[in-house]
Amino acid sequence: MRISVIGCGYLGAVHAAAMASLGHEVIGVDIDEAKVEALTSGHPPFFEPGLSELLVKAQEKGRLEFTTDVSRAAEAQVHFVCVGTPQKPGEFAADVTYVDAAVDSLREHLTSTSVVVGKSTVPVGTAERLAGVIAPSGATIMWNPEFLREGHAVEDTLHPNRLVYGVASGQAGQRAVEALDEVYATILSEDTPRMITDFATAELVKTAANSFLATKISFINAMAELCEASGADVTQLADAIGMDERIGRKFLNAGLGFGGGCLPKDIRAFMARAGELGADQAVAFLKEIDSINMRRRVRMVDIARDALDGSFIGKRITVLGAAFKPDSDDVRDSPALAVARLIATQGGVVTVTDPQAIGNAQKSFPELRYEADTGRALSGADAVLLLTEWREYRDLDPAATAELVTGKVLVDGRNVLTPELWREAGWTYRALGRP
Ligand code: UGA
Repeated sequence: MRISVIGCGYLGAVHAAAMASLGHEVIGVDIDEAKVEALTSGHPPFFEPGLSELLVKAQEKGRLEFTTDVSRAAEAQVHFVCVGTPQKPGEFAADVTYVDAAVDSLREHLTSTSVVVGKSTVPVGTAERLAGVIAPSGATIMWNPEFLREGHAVEDTLHPNRLVYGVASGQAGQRAVEALDEVYATILSEDTPRMITDFATAELVKTAANSFLATKISFINAMAELCEASGADVTQLADAIGMDERIGRKFLNAGLGFGGGCLPKDIRAFMARAGELGADQAVAFLKEIDSINMRRRVRMVDIARDALDGSFIGKRITVLGAAFKPDSDDVRDSPALAVARLIATQGGVVTVTDPQAIGNAQKSFPELRYEADTGRALSGADAVLLLTEWREYRDLDPAATAELVTGKVLVDGRNVLTPELWREAGWTYRALGRP
């Protein structure tokens, strides 16, 4: 099929490459010329495992092109809207102006056989509103939320655990289902569950899923606070409650909490939208989820200061990790960088290292010191803070690391190291939610 993808960020670039790899002819459209150039050259402007290979392969086969010219989308029958919906500055609500602009730019290229498929995370009610916007063209709109995780985006796009189609009732909805079934034929042939819903349900599925994940993380981090108050161990607690299949062990890793471009802004946008709908009480608990999450960052700083005898002044602190999670170079609302900045403002001499995210971190927070080489970053440190659990930090050898630092103080912000090993090698090991 001929497909256009409007917006080629994390979501759109992966979606465009994945759809081309399924055999479709894809045109990716973005207003950012530099991004278009980077994607065309097979070097995505962000780190996502497997994406570069997919881009190169699809372009070699002539099935994928990127452009800034939205009129090229006119060739396509199905148009995926993949632009961002960031948090509005100074408010909780999502900024949907990019979604509106994308649909607006498509309008004159739509015909009665076109299908517009929204994938962006939007406030409930957006699809219904946009259906009105494109109505004069006779085109159909549907919402097909995306559940991919950064760092696993290619795998999640090609092998999703479910597909949700939010469609209008009647013939228009039927036409949309048929078109998307054709696009996803390969994925559906793998027995991927497919749910057909109305617009509002599909929009809410996405926000509800992210809210649940955020709640799970903050729940275990609330338990970590109790463990700190009582001397218990939150990692054992998570293992034990997670063995109950109704609870499950996934997303119960206590530590520095969640960040990134999705979970934090999605729960806030959900609260804002619920308020507009007069249902703010229903999700008032998300405010507490947000607060628990933010408190972990402050607690991390307190533990580190405490381990350094009460002051950061003049102390050299090495922060391992800048990305909001491993296997990503995304630093949006990164808990690691939030902690690094707090310590720097309290007089610590902070050096941040990361396998992929230093460039982005430097752009956002030029006031911090960066060092790409882990060994050099560790050299002379008075304390080491593991804040993003990249494989190479989890694999650090306590004895070899001890040779590099000045003070053998380690704070494990993600509960991924084995305390006994570090203590045996002479380290003061501290963590969130563990004695
Ligand atoms: C999240 C969702 O997991 C995806 O399903 C969704 O599609 C995506 O948002 C989106 O809305 O686009 P992502 O932001 O890539 O994906 O990251 P996650 O893997 O969900 O991690 C979020 C944060 O939670 C990270 O900072 C991570 O370190 C933290 N986390 C995760 C924990 O603190 N503990 C855990 O047990 C798990």
